[in-house]
Amino acid sequence: MNTLTTKIKNNTATVAVIGLGYVGLPLCKALLNKKFKVFGFEKNLSRIKEIKLNKIKIAAVKRFNFKKKIDSKNLFLFNTFKKIEETDIIVICVPTPLKNNNPDLSDIKNVIQNILKYIRPNQLIILESSTYPGTTKSLIVDKIKGNKIIVGKNFFVGYSPEREDPGNKYFSLKKINKVVSGYSNQCAYLTDLFYKQFIDNVYKAKNIETAEFSKLYENTYRNVNIALANEAKILADKIDLNIFDIIKCCKTKPFGFQAFYPGPGVGGHCIPIDPMYLSWLAKKNNFTTDIINLAVKINNDMPQRIFLHIKKYLNKTKIENKKIFILGAAYKKNINDLRESPIIKIINLFEKKKINFIYNDEYIPILKSKNLNKSYFSQKISKKNLREYNTILMLTDHNYYNKNFIQKNCNIIFDTRNFFKINENVKTV
Ligand SMILES: NC(=O)c1ccc[n+]([C@@H]2O[C@H](COP(=O)([O-])OP(=O)(O)OC[C@H]3O[C@@H](n4cnc5c(N)ncnc54)[C@H](O)[C@@H]3O)[C@@H](O)[C@H]2O)c1
Repeated sequence: MNTLTTKIKNNTATVAVIGLGYVGLPLCKALLNKKFKVFGFEKNLSRIKEIKLNKIKIAAVKRFNFKKKIDSKNLFLFNTFKKIEETDIIVICVPTPLKNNNPDLSDIKNVIQNILKYIRPNQLIILESSTYPGTTKSLIVDKIKGNKIIVGKNFFVGYSPEREDPGNKYFSLKKINKVVSGYSNQCAYLTDLFYKQFIDNVYKAKNIETAEFSKLYENTYRNVNIALANEAKILADKIDLNIFDIIKCCKTKPFGFQAFYPGPGVGGHCIPIDPMYLSWLAKKNNFTTDIINLAVKINNDMPQRIFLHIKKYLNKTKIENKKIFILGAAYKKNINDLRESPIIKIINLFEKKKINFIYNDEYIPILKSKNLNKSYFSQKISKKNLREYNTILMLTDHNYYNKNFIQKNCNIIFDTRNFFKINENVKTV
């Protein structure tokens, strides 16, 4: 342990980062900036190629010069795991999606199975992937107990959930408080020490399971509050009130209220998925998470609700020109992340009902999904397009949209984000 402590303290530890995506790459950047030597492990060869060519599109690392770090021999990229034996700290950042609405931990299992033969005493493994309590113990600690390895004594295991907020300029990785935990006191000490080298505030959780639960709980909190805002919006619409005006009033309360906003549904890798991990865990423990299940349902139903609103309008309208212009595809503003974005469900419904549409999103020039019949290409916001596709559906309020220009050149706007100035041609949906 003493040598590992010294290596961490003087930044000479070699760190393996497994899974080079939205979480793994910003971590590599932070470590490289602190002069750690980084070994990146990634199964997707085209991702490795993109990193080598500095062609990464993830906002937090888009401008970081990975190639320079490779050339200066500070960053090494691998597609197989043999080099794990040369590393001191191993951080796992692989996806934890859903399969048939149940947790799918196959990527974590796959990593552990593959690195088992290369681990050795005096290493520290940290899991960063979001997952239910008990995962680190059952999939890592219990699997690596071996003849020369005594976890907690000569080999160390920690869990530290990631809180990356894609596109958020105000909270860089360094500035986001980090929860850490360990299997034993020594494990927690080393994990804490490691993150303190490049993160301003580190909080030590009581144990690994508490840290695992905390990550799911904070994302579930968002999902539930967004669902509440969506439900209140539906009610406000029915009595001709604007929910955004109501929220503005509530926000003046200096305590006990945090604003969440309605929208076309939730997206990204965390908010739609993490509540399902808790719901699954509850079922395993003979319990039903009523609030969580209902929140997930309300948010998941929003695309269908918006679609029905538009269909009703199209059925009523007498004009020949029934063409929709969708603004925004990413799940939130000013980023290029399409994962779980509500647009996919909405377009899927448009396809089924043969509704004619185009979309614009400069962050997502091509819209591809296994749930769509074909790929679509982002179209310009020109006078010509706005006049032809003159029913607007605003899904993502990217900063680059010119409100006045759009409002002046179209017929009607269905606004899911309260982006446009309210007048008789703008309907909140
Ligand atoms: N994206 C976010 O904003 C965010 C925020 C907080 C937490 N998380 C959590 O972090 C974890 C990772 O999410 P992400 O968004 O970085 O995912 P991602 O899909 O962007 O990146 C994961 C990478 O891991 C690679 N990978 C998968 N299996 C592998 C294997 N066996 N060996 C090597 N590489 C492998 C994938 O090819 C991919 O490049 C998830 O548990 C997620 O819930 C994500």
